Amino acid sequence: MINVTKTFLPSQEEYQSILKRAWDKVWLTNRGILTLELEEKLKKYLTINNIIITNNGTIPLQIALKILGNNGEIITTPFSYVATTSAIVWENCIPVFVDIHPEYLTIDEEKIEAAITPNTKAILATHVFGNPCHVEVIESIAKKHSLYVIYDAAHAFGVTYAGNSLFNFGDVSTCSFHATKIFHTGEGGALFCNDDELYHKLFYSHNFGHNGPTDFHGLGINAKISELQSAMGLAVFNHIETIFEERKKVVQFYNENLKFNTFSTFKIREKTSWNYSYYPIVFKSEELLLQAVSILNKENIFPRRYFYPSLNTLNYVSPSVMPISESISPRILCLPLYVGLEETDLNKIATILNTLEC
Ligand SMILES: Cc1ncc(COP(=O)(O)O)c(C=O)c1O
Repeated sequence: MINVTKTFLPSQEEYQSILKRAWDKVWLTNRGILTLELEEKLKKYLTINNIIITNNGTIPLQIALKILGNNGEIITTPFSYVATTSAIVWENCIPVFVDIHPEYLTIDEEKIEAAITPNTKAILATHVFGNPCHVEVIESIAKKHSLYVIYDAAHAFGVTYAGNSLFNFGDVSTCSFHATKIFHTGEGGALFCNDDELYHKLFYSHNFGHNGPTDFHGLGINAKISELQSAMGLAVFNHIETIFEERKKVVQFYNENLKFNTFSTFKIREKTSWNYSYYPIVFKSEELLLQAVSILNKENIFPRRYFYPSLNTLNYVSPSVMPISESISPRILCLPLYVGLEETDLNKIATILNTLEC
């Protein structure tokens, strides 16, 4: 079976040799040696000042919104994974959707100002498929209106924009280290923040608010990662260059072999060094997409409808109309992309897609 993605697994021996260090210490969580080592390695590799590794990629969004959202309105994108919107609602904030750019698929920065009200507290935008939002324009709007910027950078591991890690933009960036992601810890995620005072708040919030065993800085929750997950992260990290190289080959195959008659792909923002995280194609119609899915499924190939439905249509948000997101969402499909995807399978996928007719 060929799925949209396949978890990259190191050998069991490699994982266990790292895990042994936790066994030797009899220490499975609470920022053990493996978690601290992983944080240092990622800081250096990603060229970032601060990182807090967490137990998934949703809780960082919730913590950032708890601290910066103040139960207010949060300007956000309708084209992302559901966690971007659900975290806003879960934290008792109100999502205010702004439509996306039709080619970059990120929030349309030109439409943000019109959505700002006296109740707006923050902008939460997704670097969807690892494609950077227009960070300069968003930063200047946020400054002008005294808003915080949170980036859902769940897909952006390893992406640089204008030579700088994408995690360095915004007041807070978050990432997902879920098993399906480029870099993973099974379940996991991270918070990134350059302001030391805010970083401190995020840090204690992720550990129940603790300031030592009996004192508390303030409100907190449990977002800590375990040593079992960090061991997986360290083992996967050993292969990170191979992972990028292999994914790049698959992307190049699609770029060179798809005919783009009945669909197009997205546009990567200028000045970006991308991470080959997803290969989305946008069909001319939903009918064509469903036809493609049906033929591929018969061949045991399972692409995924990322991201459908448009998040402004969820039943727990106030109704709003987002014409571009609502038009693209039913027509977009992510193709299989992972380390080890064979050329024969890629050829099969390309042949099926190239023979579709309008
Ligand atoms: C854009 C986006 N945000 C947030 C998340 C949530 O991450 P996690 O599954 O690690 O909680 C995901 C997960 O795929 C995602 O795609």
